[in-house]
Amino acid sequence: MSKVKKCLFPAAGYGTRFLPVTKSMPKEMLPLVNKPLIQYGVEEAMQAGISGMAIVTGRGKRALEDHFDISYELEHQIAGTSKEGALTDIRKIIEACTFSYTRQIEMKGLGHAILTGETLIGLEPFAVVLADDYCVTEADGVLAQMVALYEKHQCSIVAIEEVPRDETYKYGVIAGEEIEPGVYRVSEMVEKPAPEVAPSNLAIIGRYVLTPDIFDILRETPPGRNNEVQITDALMTQAQKGGVLAYKFKGRRFDCGSIEGFMDASNYNYTNVYKKA
Ligand code: UTP
Repeated sequence: MSKVKKCLFPAAGYGTRFLPVTKSMPKEMLPLVNKPLIQYGVEEAMQAGISGMAIVTGRGKRALEDHFDISYELEHQIAGTSKEGALTDIRKIIEACTFSYTRQIEMKGLGHAILTGETLIGLEPFAVVLADDYCVTEADGVLAQMVALYEKHQCSIVAIEEVPRDETYKYGVIAGEEIEPGVYRVSEMVEKPAPEVAPSNLAIIGRYVLTPDIFDILRETPPGRNNEVQITDALMTQAQKGGVLAYKFKGRRFDCGSIEGFMDASNYNYTNVYKKA
């Protein structure tokens, strides 16, 4: 059985909802208190037993690479002071994981970003984290829950949550038969449907476990909504060929790609995570 050993982080998007800050800074480096979104994503992947972090970057995203590297000058400067501990966590991550990067030259959508990551993944199942979806859980992280499900079913899995009907236009939306509590066999998948035509209110959020045949499917997937290559369209093809599961994860998600969700996550994190650490 192939294990999930790598996690892909598509992080090449422009983050226009956060302009002007995202003009020269990656959205994924926005902090919840003092830790960037991407680091929460990497920590969640590590908790799922993954150590290969593959990041799809773009122009203006160098800060991502610098974050997961040693800063000798800074570390030398604070060595032996009370501030040294502030870098302990990130240093552990750097030591435990390998980071690889590739650039998406043209931002042709999430599906295209995932296909760009093929060179870093190869022929094995892999996780995908959209770092602007910040997830908090009581026990296992969302990816750990999904990897456990993958080990049982060995097929692609998308994380879903119920959203208000009038918000379906923001998400990929699925329909399917519930085969065990919270697990659906996907029969339909639509990208950003209007509420009237949405097949349900079960929305895909930024966590996936994908089997590598998705790359060949993505290569054949024409641009869809917004003229972008949509992962939802490729997953629909995969659902018809072999099977895709949708998993209602245990936990809470904050949409940190929107200002409101980001502020909610910041407040939540300050009270429930940062102050309790
Ligand atoms: P979003 O839809 O949130 O787009 O992408 P965005 O560009 O990041 O943000 P806005 O809407 O302009 O504010 C979802 C995820 O897919 C990645 C983004 O980096 C984000 O993690 N993405 C999207 C790519 O890597 N490449 C793309 O071409 C599009």
